[in-house]
Amino acid sequence: MNAFKTNGKTVVITGSNRGIGAALTNEFLKQNWQVFGGVRRPSSDRQMQAGAAYQEFQIDVQDSNSVNNAFAKLREDFHSRGSSLDLLINNAGVYEDAEANFTEISEQALFKSFDVNAMGAMRVTKAALSLLLAAPQPLVANVSSLMGSISDNTGGGSYAYRMSKAALNMFTKSFSIDYPQIASVVLHPGWVKTEMGGPNAPTSTEDSARGLVKLLTTAKLKSLSGRFFDFEGDEISW
Ligand SMILES: NC(=O)c1ccc[n+]([C@@H]2O[C@H](COP(=O)([O-])OP(=O)(O)OC[C@H]3O[C@@H](n4cnc5c(N)ncnc54)[C@H](OP(=O)(O)O)[C@@H]3O)[C@@H](O)[C@H]2O)c1
Repeated sequence: MNAFKTNGKTVVITGSNRGIGAALTNEFLKQNWQVFGGVRRPSSDRQMQAGAAYQEFQIDVQDSNSVNNAFAKLREDFHSRGSSLDLLINNAGVYEDAEANFTEISEQALFKSFDVNAMGAMRVTKAALSLLLAAPQPLVANVSSLMGSISDNTGGGSYAYRMSKAALNMFTKSFSIDYPQIASVVLHPGWVKTEMGGPNAPTSTEDSARGLVKLLTTAKLKSLSGRFFDFEGDEISW
């Protein structure tokens, strides 16, 4: 990955160490973006492989201090480069209750799901706000799930995951209204072969990331703000 030159565009991706976040990182690097990858456990190996176009930073989206410290350092770094943040992708997520039925679901699973999937994205977006507002056409993309769609829910179950992703969707909608200068979208990456999606998922991380990056780099994205799309660019109903 050392050969990447940057085109001046910047993206922050949380959960960039594996799964869809890692594939998004690779895809943006291929398209010459400068990628800032947020991970819970930084690895010098990954940083060395990717070269200067990829910069890793430590962040735990459940922890406000970690989020605020991460963005205090990023702000210094961005200021010294004279750059702003073009795109924030809130990708970090957990699926805590895959097997639990209604009477078994634990409060711990519910709290953790909301804390990571919904509040985590809010914490990160708040900490990134000044960097986003300094960009000419900023964008926030929240990686949700079709499972967060109320109208698509015919299967029931997965209370913690579904409820936390529905909360993420509502956060995105309100944010898109409060900050019309920032295009904000909700994304469904497909059912993807990752640790979360499992081995039977039909979509590879590469195909998902290619589709998401195509959507996120479309010129008309501003007009799509406050809406919900899958990785093939099709709109999903709330
Ligand atoms: N895979 C699917 O089929 C599918 C479908 C719909 C939506 N999604 C969504 O897509 C996103 C990525 O999923 P994935 O399939 O790539 O999952 P994954 O392979 O399980 O990866 C999850 C990522 O989130 C990070 N993460 C979890 N908790 C975190 C925290 N507190 N702070 C910072 N990072 C944290 C993980 O970091 P660690 O390595 O440190 O744990 C990891 O990088 C999620 O939001 C998920 O809900 C996935």
